[in-house]
Amino acid sequence: MTPTPASSPYGTLPASPAPAQRKPISLPRLREMHAQGEKITMLTAYDATFAAVADAAGVECILVGDSLGMVCQGLSSTVGVTLEAMRHHTECVARGLRRAQATAWLIADLPFGSYHESKEQALRSAAVLMQAGAHMVKLEGGGWTTETVQFLVARGIPVCAHLGLTPQTVHALGGYRVQGRSDEAAALLMVQAHALQDAGASMLVLEMVPAALSATLTEELRHCPTIGIGAGVATAGQVLVLHDMLGMNLGKMPKFVHNFMAEAHSVQGAMQAYVQAVKQGRFPVDALHAW
Ligand code: KIV
Repeated sequence: MTPTPASSPYGTLPASPAPAQRKPISLPRLREMHAQGEKITMLTAYDATFAAVADAAGVECILVGDSLGMVCQGLSSTVGVTLEAMRHHTECVARGLRRAQATAWLIADLPFGSYHESKEQALRSAAVLMQAGAHMVKLEGGGWTTETVQFLVARGIPVCAHLGLTPQTVHALGGYRVQGRSDEAAALLMVQAHALQDAGASMLVLEMVPAALSATLTEELRHCPTIGIGAGVATAGQVLVLHDMLGMNLGKMPKFVHNFMAEAHSVQGAMQAYVQAVKQGRFPVDALHAW
């Protein structure tokens, strides 16, 4: 039964499926969605309430991103985010999802410096986030990370990889700019993405890469759904930073973001509009960021 919108003296509240009506999101379910061509939706959340609201809006994956450095801590990059901060916010989000009897899949970012030393260090850091309630960890970069991904996956830790603009290496990249533009850079990104899939990564975030390149990668990576952010509409799913899509940003709003709050009556309504737009392939509009 489709829930009907509830009315209140202050407007119309958006309808959302009751938790009991939805199946918990699991790795097999995400694989099934990918195989069936259903777009995967992801949003960041850093606290219990927003995570529960995102789940109620139908968002399948909640990412406790290290973007919390900028969003919650006022930092100018993700480099200063600690493992302890990630553990704390992951625990808050996991608690909120549990209280709401939510179904979302919870991913937590391994922060800068918490997996760079050795694969054993990565395992220790991942264990902290998994014990805080994460179902999967995300780490940035290709090449040297492949062995780490394999090591974690072999020990039962699902991994989401992240290529393209990798914010933890913003200083080495020279700023927040599009990656994989040249033939050489695109070829390297393709090699790294295939290696990460072969190492067992179950998802791959592609951030700020040309739409054509991410479309090719999405087609080629049959076992690893791509989740785009500023990477065109062809990816298997999309992710946005929560505060960006609600139109709240202390800095410069990235060009690829849409303010879903502008046309919504509530935060949950904005999230539902995002879910629908992604599912129907209406977001993002490639022409707006044809890199
Ligand atoms: O930290 C974060 O929010 C992220 C997303 C931008 C993908 O990694």
